Amino acid sequence: MGVTSSRTTAAENSRLRRLVERFPAKSVLVVGDLMLDRYIRGHADRISPEAPVPVVRVSEESCIPGGAGNVAVNIAALGGSVSVLGVIGPDEAGAQLRALLSSRGVAVSGLIQDAKRLTSQKCRVIAERQQVVRYDSETREPLSPQTEAALLNLLPRAVETCSAVVLSDYGKGVLRPRLLGAAVRWARRLSRPVAVDPKPEHFRLYRGVTCVTPNLREAFAGMRREENASLEAVVALGSDIVRLLGCRSALITRGPDGMSLFGRNGKPRHIPTRAREVFDVSGAGDTVIAALALALAAGARIEDAAALANHAAGIVVGKLGTATCSPAELLRELR
Ligand SMILES: Nc1ncnc2c1ncn2[C@@H]1O[C@H](COP(=O)(O)OP(=O)(O)OP(=O)(O)O)[C@@H](O)[C@H]1O
Ligand SMILES: [Mg+2]
Repeated sequence: MGVTSSRTTAAENSRLRRLVERFPAKSVLVVGDLMLDRYIRGHADRISPEAPVPVVRVSEESCIPGGAGNVAVNIAALGGSVSVLGVIGPDEAGAQLRALLSSRGVAVSGLIQDAKRLTSQKCRVIAERQQVVRYDSETREPLSPQTEAALLNLLPRAVETCSAVVLSDYGKGVLRPRLLGAAVRWARRLSRPVAVDPKPEHFRLYRGVTCVTPNLREAFAGMRREENASLEAVVALGSDIVRLLGCRSALITRGPDGMSLFGRNGKPRHIPTRAREVFDVSGAGDTVIAALALALAAGARIEDAAALANHAAGIVVGKLGTATCSPAELLRELR
């Protein structure tokens, strides 16, 4: 058995390496909720005289793209071409987000500026590695008809020029039924695979996509079931998601327990994590869908795309902060 499994691994690794080598020729379209993650770091050595809260002396401020923006940045880091379709407001955060995406190689001509919206932003104040507070600014209302029309207008050409589509749904208003439906229809018409990082409340809107990638909590919530840690419950959940959504597969990410891939037929495939050390798991789900979509764009079968995504996630959780993974790092893992 040892011999067979190591041969299987060698064959799989060589297939996965060939996929990674094809990444630079492939392009992915990311549609969804773009955000700006802002980190304000400093020291807190006293309590405010005004209220029982720490006073943070700020020493550093930094920003990175979050949500769908982090998925796009992950695709670019993996060596793929990537463009985004999403919304920003006429504010400083929007300008920063556009510049950051651009500087990381993400095509931003599909960023629509809506005069009546705030760019979604999460600000974290961190003192001595401890998060003191997070404050968000965002507009939660659905898009205005004009903004939605502008996105719908860009969609067909954007789908046509990519090899795979990611829908990154953080529930901030971009992926409402009209745009979502149009994205899935265009992708099907042009035979582009569609991977969705789902919002549980929107599960039933994702009918007909290629693959959904909820984490375990989102998978239970999306199916309106109580969370249950048993493998049996997870197995039933995965097959029911595939059936309910009529999708080709569901990839449930399970944190330290790796991921489980479900198809229409056959047994689920449980893939243990490849992480050797774990420093920071934030954004690992974005890395998963980025690598999965790029692999599908490169013509991978879903099992190989999931295996690659799992390798990429194993690499990023070993890094501090919301991180990305390079093709060189992936290839080193697959030797
Ligand atoms: N604690 C961990 N130990 C080992 N591997 C991990 C851990 N957390 C995450 N991973 C790896 O990362 C993948 C995705 O993680 P997870 O299931 O936490 O996604 P997520 O909840 O969507 O993440 P996020 O929303 O923060 O981006 C897992 O399938 C696994 O391969
Ligand atoms: Mg996630």
